[in-house]
Amino acid sequence: MELALIIDSASPEPLHQQVYSQIRSAILSGRLASGQRLPPSRTLAKSFNLSRTTVTQGYDQLISEGYLQTRPGAGTYICSQLPEVLLVAGPIKPSHQTVVNIPLSAYGQRVNQSSLRPLRKSYDISFRYGHPALDLFPVELWRKLLSKHCRATIQWLNYAQKSYGHWPLRQAVADYLKHSRAVRCTPEQVIITSGSQQALSLITQLLVNPGDSVAIEDPGYRGARHIFKSNGANLLPMPLDRNGLIVDTLVEGDDTPRLVYVTPSHQFPTGALLSLPRRLALLQWAWQTGALIIEDDYDSEYRYGGRPIPSLQGLDSHASVLYVGTFSKVMFPSIRLGYLVVPDALVNVFGKAKWLADRQPPTLTQYALAEFIKAGHLERHIRKMRLCYERRRKTLVQALYQHFGQDVKILGDSAGLHVMAKLPLNLSDDDIVARAASVGVEMCSAQIQYEVPHNTGEFVFGYTAINEDQIEAGIDRVAKALRT
Ligand SMILES: Cc1ncc(COP(=O)(O)O)c(C=O)c1O
Repeated sequence: MELALIIDSASPEPLHQQVYSQIRSAILSGRLASGQRLPPSRTLAKSFNLSRTTVTQGYDQLISEGYLQTRPGAGTYICSQLPEVLLVAGPIKPSHQTVVNIPLSAYGQRVNQSSLRPLRKSYDISFRYGHPALDLFPVELWRKLLSKHCRATIQWLNYAQKSYGHWPLRQAVADYLKHSRAVRCTPEQVIITSGSQQALSLITQLLVNPGDSVAIEDPGYRGARHIFKSNGANLLPMPLDRNGLIVDTLVEGDDTPRLVYVTPSHQFPTGALLSLPRRLALLQWAWQTGALIIEDDYDSEYRYGGRPIPSLQGLDSHASVLYVGTFSKVMFPSIRLGYLVVPDALVNVFGKAKWLADRQPPTLTQYALAEFIKAGHLERHIRKMRLCYERRRKTLVQALYQHFGQDVKILGDSAGLHVMAKLPLNLSDDDIVARAASVGVEMCSAQIQYEVPHNTGEFVFGYTAINEDQIEAGIDRVAKALRT
């Protein structure tokens, strides 16, 4: 067989490389078919005036990459299965999507059933809740802290010795919680997690068996609800009033919940503050029944015109409360750092579960955060944001009254990053959301926060990530869109 190669002795490309690449492209383009025999190296060398070593070098590379194979005594052939065919993924055949049924575990099936939020669209003005004002975060300072710690040592590149988190950060969090939230803890009890979401996951994995009951506030934070459900818990939705969870409705006996999940400082989403008598009654109930309480203190730093309310954990004397907090709201959500304060007896097992989940939190971010807290930057930032968010909250409340009249019902204390409002309208929530979207405004119905279906007319308005002008313009646009 004749091989049509163009060998250029003046080219900077080595001769054996030219032999290799030209035969390879001939194979890939189909000019040389699989199973075809190549000329012996001696013959090819003679035809192109090359040394035999040059040709065998080219052949050897093609053999090692799987394009050619030698058959003893019979010569060199083109392989029937080429590496490109094996390496390059072809288009997905419909049969892969429709016919192949990959069985999920029971946990996988429950996760699959959870109605988690699909990808969000972007809007001109968004009243999405839970988002801090990123443009007011001291990014330059944060960048300096990161780069300082990045240069100081290379130890942060390595695995951490412990999974619980960087010790100075655990100390800084314990100090901060003690003086700002009256949490009673030692640094050893603080476990740094990947946001509060992971803290809730670890608690559920370690303390709840499928079929165990977990009491939740209804309406309540669905990020937590879905974790409990996915782990097979039997949810007990508990009613609320303006003083938070109605503790009397918690049962005793066979169906005593294993866990109760509460947001006592600022109930999500109604904003109710769990009153002191209810806090004491809840703790009393937990002590009597042996149930544990999860206190999710996600945005308690923001209380306007009044002192922050001390934590429930600080009132507990029987190690019944697992306290959860996050840096997502007081700093920024992508920091993915939160914390969990657990009773001494549970520290070890939580450390092990954290290791199994993701080994450890990211070290460099923890170094920077420990300094950010210790140097007072966190509390300075919170004080600044409190003033800003208070103005934004006032603007929102005024705009709602101005456009919807005094019948609009604003729920919740003056706290947090959102307001829940019941609009006096005879339209479905979906209709209201769609009309708002048609004028470029994102509104969030409270419906999805209910476990027991509820046609609400209630909306959760996040006001912290948009400025006063945007808040006024957003409510004005929505009111006009709803009037037409
Ligand atoms: C009640 C509640 N807990 C916790 C979080 C924060 O979760 P993470 O720390 O995982 O960002 C949120 C966020 O929206 C929330 O609303």
